[in-house]
Amino acid sequence: MAFIQLKTSLPGPKGLAALERRKNLLPAGLAKSTDVVVERAEGALVWDVDGNQLIDFAGGIGMINVGHRNEQVVGAIKKQLDKYIHTCSLVTTIEPYLDLAELLNSVTPGDFPKKTLLACSGSEAVENAINIAKYYTKRNAVLCFEAAYHGRTLLTLSLTSKYALFKKGFGTYVPDIYRIPAPNVYRGIPGMSEAAYEKYCIQKLEEAFITQVDPDSLAAIIIEPVMGEGGFIPIPASYLHKLRQVCDKHGIVFIADEIQCGAGRTGKMYACEHSGVIPDMVVSAKSIGAGMPISAVTGKAKMMDAPHLGGVGGTYGGSPIACVAAIEAIKILQSESFLQRVNEVGEIIRITMEGWKTKYSLIGDVRGIGAMRLVEFVKDRDTKEPDAEATLEIIKDAVAHGLIMIRAGLFSNCIRLLPPIVITNQQLVEGLQVLEAAIASAQEKRK
Ligand SMILES: Cc1ncc(COP(=O)(O)O)c(C=O)c1O
Repeated sequence: MAFIQLKTSLPGPKGLAALERRKNLLPAGLAKSTDVVVERAEGALVWDVDGNQLIDFAGGIGMINVGHRNEQVVGAIKKQLDKYIHTCSLVTTIEPYLDLAELLNSVTPGDFPKKTLLACSGSEAVENAINIAKYYTKRNAVLCFEAAYHGRTLLTLSLTSKYALFKKGFGTYVPDIYRIPAPNVYRGIPGMSEAAYEKYCIQKLEEAFITQVDPDSLAAIIIEPVMGEGGFIPIPASYLHKLRQVCDKHGIVFIADEIQCGAGRTGKMYACEHSGVIPDMVVSAKSIGAGMPISAVTGKAKMMDAPHLGGVGGTYGGSPIACVAAIEAIKILQSESFLQRVNEVGEIIRITMEGWKTKYSLIGDVRGIGAMRLVEFVKDRDTKEPDAEATLEIIKDAVAHGLIMIRAGLFSNCIRLLPPIVITNQQLVEGLQVLEAAIASAQEKRK
């Protein structure tokens, strides 16, 4: 292997010692998809504490599209460190905050006056978006979708789907949240064409306004244009257009959660651009910070201005260090050359995965847009019974061979690929070979 270079088994002795410390020091509920203990990272490569060199196909769950330690980003951070670290945007005005807001107001879809509020995590930004929508509409109800992931604070966990892994045991959730199935073409109605299924989903949405919630009581509809955690489910354009129509008709705020599918990952700066649908508010996080903890709500100025003075903000929101990192990252993410590279990376993955589908019956579906690609494992292609065991086995095998990976999907039966886009073709092909070998081995065991 040219890029994966293993000097010890994974984890090695130093890694094992750190994992032992982790067991004693961190809560058991804090999951990890690999046993990799990091020493440093650069581009699409990660080195562990035992000197092993690994390829990164998880990119910190899609937060490192511009690559680990991107040179432009690191340079901007260092420069800012020599000026000031933070003075709090609730106390002083921070120019990098203004610069980033200006940039986000211009790169988010929609040709109308916009404003941006910065926060520190994706969850915090989603929570702010919903609160602002409530304030603006003077309504309480929110519509969200099955398979959605919006975060882990009380409000965002209430919006998140998937009970077993995320919500179990955490008690009562926020009221007035309504959830309906999202269109999922792969798991649609057997025998129904894709076009007919899309119509069916739209009909179900209309029915929900009779059976579940009065649309005139909705403050917001929140959706990931390509669902991330739920299994890289692209929401059909027709459905997003229908949501837009409903929002326009009933004065509902349309919120696009672009935390995972945005930041250039799908080949456009924001995934909703593929449909031409323009949300009222866009939530950005993950890769806009290139690894720094920063998130943003960008929305129509009249909506963003609704809360009273003092109604929004926080101590760390708009950290200048994170802002200057995000400014450099976004300049790269939205550039023609970067988005072209996203499509090249995506095509290599797509063609390779399509080939796997013809060889391994374990694979039920391969899908995605741009470089947001996923493979879904099933026990049987006809019944589509999810195979979470095989998925875990494949991940463990690939990680043991030096590939950093993470799963996804409502049934935990998918592997999502979110490599840094700066990955070279050779690194990408090598990583895909490791993944294929793990799939082939799992398939062989099931013969
Ligand atoms: C679509 C989406 N929304 C919200 C979140 C929550 O972001 P954070 O983990 O930064 O709170 C995530 C995180 O994975 C996400 O993918």
